[in-house]
Amino acid sequence: MSSRPESGTRGWSVEFVVEAGGDDADGLGPFESALDDPAESVTVSCFRDREARGWRFRSVRVSRPDESELRSRLAVAAAVTGMQASSLSVLPLPEMDWIAEVNRRSPPIRVGRFFVRGSHVAEEAPRGCIEIVLDAGRAFGTGSHESTRGCLIALDAMAPPGDGRILDLGTGSGILAIAAAKLWRRPVLAADIDPVSVATARENAGLNAVETLTETRRSQGFSNPRLRARAPYALILANILADPLIRLAPAIARYLHRDGRAILSGLLEDQEARVAAAYGSVGLSIRDRHPIDTWTTLVVGHG
Ligand SMILES: C[S@@+](CC[C@H](N)C(=O)[O-])C[C@H]1O[C@@H](n2cnc3c(N)ncnc32)[C@H](O)[C@@H]1O
Repeated sequence: MSSRPESGTRGWSVEFVVEAGGDDADGLGPFESALDDPAESVTVSCFRDREARGWRFRSVRVSRPDESELRSRLAVAAAVTGMQASSLSVLPLPEMDWIAEVNRRSPPIRVGRFFVRGSHVAEEAPRGCIEIVLDAGRAFGTGSHESTRGCLIALDAMAPPGDGRILDLGTGSGILAIAAAKLWRRPVLAADIDPVSVATARENAGLNAVETLTETRRSQGFSNPRLRARAPYALILANILADPLIRLAPAIARYLHRDGRAILSGLLEDQEARVAAAYGSVGLSIRDRHPIDTWTTLVVGHG
């Protein structure tokens, strides 16, 4: 199963309307960010739609978006702006040469020692860099999003984890599991609630020659017994949105080794206090933080 968009396959159009009275699009940036994924989006546009009494956002993408994730992103944008998105539509488009489009729009990304590139990119990783090969696919995680970059920066800055295993919870494309496996040559358990993400993470682990270090499992939080059996973890990576992170705080505290670290991401700056309070209430305090634009990544540990 390939997650790469093939030449001559369908694209997808995503549209929604944000009800806003003025003729000024200022303040609508979070909705554009919710749509924009440089590895996935071929175009993102926004125009005044008087009939719909709002601003219509339209994006053309290389593969079908995960609608529940899209709705979560729109909910975050709504929370930030105080405006609502409605009339979401996700429709297939006629065939075209998506490979050419993706190649044009997915340059390699350098984050700390990590060099993330699509398999179509011939450019070699700079000396001393750890290369991760990923193609735009059906799972989140190409390295372009601020939340993923925050985790890669946190990993790059971290000393090798002590006793215990490594867990990537909400692995998406597997990017963080692959990064950790390549960085320390240690086994990583990569789990996701979404079966397509689990399959994509497994495929990408193979593409990066870390399949023997990367075990993949489907799990909602720690519901899969395998995740509980492998605890305590020296490192838990969790790039999930703020609310799931808050719900997972007691379980993360329970399954994290007493000297372990958890990297928490997917939260906006103004959600940091709420997330920190939830983790504080289960005995985990902030050891480091990596803000990027409006997003923040937290590193927490016991005590
Ligand atoms: C923002 S993506 C992160 C992907 C990748 N780890 C990265 O850093 O780019 C969040 C992922 O978490 C998964 N997810 C959301 N809630 C979850 C839960 N409760 N348990 C496990 N996975 C979850 C989603 O399916 C999605 O693949």
